[in-house]
Amino acid sequence: MARIAQNRQSVVILKSLQQLHTFGLPAHCTDFVRIQSVHSAHTFIAQHLEQPFYLLGQGSNTAFVADYQGTVAEVALKGIDVQENDSHYIIKAAAGESWHELVVYCLKHTMYGFENLALIPGTVGAAPIQNIGAYGVEVERFIQSVQYIDLKTNQVHSIAAKDCEFGYRDSIFKHALWQKAMIVGVTFLLPKAWQPVVTYGELAALHAPSAQDIFNKVVEVRQAKLPDPNVLGNAGSFFKNPIISCETLAALHQQFPSMPFYPLDAEAVKIPAAWLIDQLGFKGQFEGGIRCHPKQALVLTNAEQGTGEQLLSLARRIKNAVAEQFSIDLEHEVQLIGANGKVLL
Ligand code: EPU
Repeated sequence: MARIAQNRQSVVILKSLQQLHTFGLPAHCTDFVRIQSVHSAHTFIAQHLEQPFYLLGQGSNTAFVADYQGTVAEVALKGIDVQENDSHYIIKAAAGESWHELVVYCLKHTMYGFENLALIPGTVGAAPIQNIGAYGVEVERFIQSVQYIDLKTNQVHSIAAKDCEFGYRDSIFKHALWQKAMIVGVTFLLPKAWQPVVTYGELAALHAPSAQDIFNKVVEVRQAKLPDPNVLGNAGSFFKNPIISCETLAALHQQFPSMPFYPLDAEAVKIPAAWLIDQLGFKGQFEGGIRCHPKQALVLTNAEQGTGEQLLSLARRIKNAVAEQFSIDLEHEVQLIGANGKVLL
């Protein structure tokens, strides 16, 4: 759907973003472009050097919380190329490929490793940005390099995984290269000597599982807990699980002895944000049409035609309540995009 905005000089047709991000919030942009070849990517960049634009994959980790004053460009490059050496499959996938379809493709062709990451919404190009992870695996372990176009010079570069500054839901693409790079492809290395990862609770119960067994279980667990964005608007976990020091945890345990945690190293632990939010009774709560998911408190959903303002308002209420009760600062994981770009809570 298009909306018309008028000013004295011109009439601008605003494009709806509602179908272009999985939260499905009502928002528009000034212009929308779908990039389907590397050549058109270069042309687009050359034409937009001085203008605001936002790069999008399948919109599964972005929430447009207001009308965006600029061009939204969907990177829809396609193609998968597989080579092999003695020890590894070398998989080059274009940024616009669906992540889950790549997982299915690899499983079908007996290239294993991605199965724990089944059903994560989004594109291959978005995967390294937030270093997607689930059920004991983060994608960084399989990335060899990421190919991107430098938005300033319009040149293609390849950055090795070791230089991507991967962290928990984090990478250089969220920091030094934020809004400076258009990812066009990712090269993965899948070891031929496959090792199952079954550290996560529900997977640990599997007996000598195949990659297909793990895939099936992950799909089952995700479908039971996480709302399908095609049915109920959402962008997965809204907040990151906070990392705190062991010292802080010890102090918190005095007051909240049942607070769960996952050890990270000798000094730090990760706390499930879902537990913190759940304790404060937000589960199932609405703010207008936006709801804290009744089955997973870390997921906010667009249950009843909610708005960007309502999403921000619920997210801020949750963040403030967690800070007040536990003195823990929740950081949102979903990219919130307002009129002029990134919005902070
Ligand atoms: N919990 C609650 N209440 C809830 C849900 C969970 O108290 O409503 C507590 C339970 O103690 C549970 C713990 O939180 O054991 C952890 O919950 P869960 O296993 O569902 O995982 P999570 O920490 O909430 C993370 C990722 C998910 C990923 C799962 C499985 C982040 C921000 N989220 O969620 O990733 O699928 O682990 O590995 O790290 C995403 O990034 O969008 C995403 C869905």
